[in-house]
Amino acid sequence: MIENKVVLITGAAGFIGSHLTEELLKHDNYLILIDNFNEYYEGKDYNIREITKNYQENKNFKLFKEDLTNKTVFKKINHSLDYIFHLAAQAGVRYSIAHATEITHNNIESTLNIFEFALNTNVEKIIYASSSSVYGNPIYTPVDENHPKNPISPYAISKYCGEIYADYYYREKGLPITSLRFYTVYGPRGRPDMAIRKFFNAMFKNEAITIYGDGTQLRDFTYISDIINGLILAAESKRSSGEVFNLGCSNPISINDLVEKMYAISKTPKKFTHAEKQEGDVNITHSDILKAKKILGYFPKVNIDEGLKYQWEWQRKYLQFLKKA
Ligand SMILES: NC(=O)c1ccc[n+]([C@@H]2O[C@H](COP(=O)([O-])OP(=O)(O)OC[C@H]3O[C@@H](n4cnc5c(N)ncnc54)[C@H](O)[C@@H]3O)[C@@H](O)[C@H]2O)c1
Repeated sequence: MIENKVVLITGAAGFIGSHLTEELLKHDNYLILIDNFNEYYEGKDYNIREITKNYQENKNFKLFKEDLTNKTVFKKINHSLDYIFHLAAQAGVRYSIAHATEITHNNIESTLNIFEFALNTNVEKIIYASSSSVYGNPIYTPVDENHPKNPISPYAISKYCGEIYADYYYREKGLPITSLRFYTVYGPRGRPDMAIRKFFNAMFKNEAITIYGDGTQLRDFTYISDIINGLILAAESKRSSGEVFNLGCSNPISINDLVEKMYAISKTPKKFTHAEKQEGDVNITHSDILKAKKILGYFPKVNIDEGLKYQWEWQRKYLQFLKKA
């Protein structure tokens, strides 16, 4: 566990960043949080309020509402850093197809700025958040880290490009960077553009859910606490610099089975329609996590049935809070 350290987290107001922030605040770390609070979805102010309410700004953390494509924020950081977690990115495969230039500029430039900034620090480890989307449609499963990279969206290309830069800064500049390829992450505060959050929302409102394609596509859903654990293990590992790891659950299920499980939990009447398969969607994601198990000691603990229950409990409360607000 990371304790009594100074840690920079980018994308801290987002889904994964807010969970990492919450976890590291519990262990007496001083956190420097950066997020531009972009308007891709609502709820980031809520995320930050929820996780920092029992802590003091300047004593436990410092929040910068700044854009990483602009280097001015780095001039304001005068702490000596132990770890950097670079989670900020414009996410969303479908959004990226409609906004290719924006996503390319945002994701690649902010990543380069972080790596350049890190050159002037003595940081112990930099973690770069990559994505299983770099593989595209797998040619074999489960997919290990050596599988060919065939990204099929500008988002996936931007994530892969960040990995190539991570490798360059590791080999040529000696930066201790590790890239982690996350597989469809879900859980409380999950992104509103992702299937599980969208489906539970519709169930709560008694509306029909839309399944893209025939629903037989398989997804390796990974619960947020397992991802947070993987992030921390990778940061602490002495053997992770210059390496890439899959962080998944390695137990994919079809969207049709997922929906069945979700209705069983929400106990709401089944209402769904099918729409055409979306551009950029892959047919299957299935991680081989042997490398992360062996080198990092990463063993995912939360299965999909438990994880869905936790997300539903949180989401019901959140939707009731929104109704009252
Ligand atoms: N959620 C998943 O299933 C998943 C899967 C694979 C990879 N990832 C990666 O994990 C990371 C976190 O994903 P998430 O689901 O929490 O997304 P998110 O959108 O909830 O969080 C990303 C945060 O980054 C911030 N941000 C974006 N561009 C920025 C910039 N230029 N400057 C400052 N802040 C900026 C956004 O405001 C947002 O709060 C991303 O890098 C994403 O690509 C996520």
